[in-house]
Amino acid sequence: MTDKLTPDALRDVLHQVAAKIIDSRDELCRLDSLVGDGDHGVGMGRGFTQAGEKLAAAGDADLAGLLKTFGMGVVTGAGGASGPLFGGLFTEGAKALKGAPHLDAPGARQWWRAALEATQKRGGAKPGDKTMVDALHPAVKAMEDFRGEDLGGMFQAAAKAAWEGVEKTKDQLAGQGRSRYLGERALGHQDAGATSTAMILDALARACSGDKG
Ligand SMILES: Nc1ncnc2c1ncn2[C@@H]1O[C@H](COP(=O)(O)OP(=O)(O)OP(=O)(O)O)[C@@H](O)[C@H]1O
Ligand SMILES: [Mg+2]
Repeated sequence: MTDKLTPDALRDVLHQVAAKIIDSRDELCRLDSLVGDGDHGVGMGRGFTQAGEKLAAAGDADLAGLLKTFGMGVVTGAGGASGPLFGGLFTEGAKALKGAPHLDAPGARQWWRAALEATQKRGGAKPGDKTMVDALHPAVKAMEDFRGEDLGGMFQAAAKAAWEGVEKTKDQLAGQGRSRYLGERALGHQDAGATSTAMILDALARACSGDKG
């Protein structure tokens, strides 16, 4: 059970998140090719590669500093529309955790609540629009419903809810992003960005639970 992460431990966790996304590049492109333009894995791969490089060069930093460095790497490395959306998942954590010495369950809930709100504000997507919000929204609810101090257990509950959200995107028509032009042809396919969001939460859960998965 993990109650708290030090900045050094968070740095390791973020490297594991980056490794998971980089390993999933082909799968994310395959999913995006069914309902989008097929580049989601390319952008995410570039973004999380740059995030890992910036993190490795960051020297001593507190939690907020590490999250900001990592998130800005995603923003600039991925570019396009999705760089700010996915980088924002981490830069919002930096704002929510300013001055915090450790990451604990209440802090992580504040981080991901802020990430959800910023994503919706930036992209304009509502739950049900077949986007990353459909993974993020149930994940944040699961974190807020979670009782106890076990950070790894809380991220596991969030990841499980996010994967259930990904599954539901198969039955949704797109309301945002490129796939909205497909209309009913998007049915039957899961959203690529919801999938990568669930992968991020899953990697966080595994890393916080000591499973290198
Ligand atoms: N307005 C939006 N709000 C929330 N998520 C969005 C929005 N638009 C797209 N997405 C998410 O981004 C994913 C697509 O990411 P991708 O990296 O392929 O970007 P893109 O739409 O091709 O645009 P660009 O190439 O300009 O970044 C979608 O699967 C969806 O989950
Ligand atoms: Mg795309």
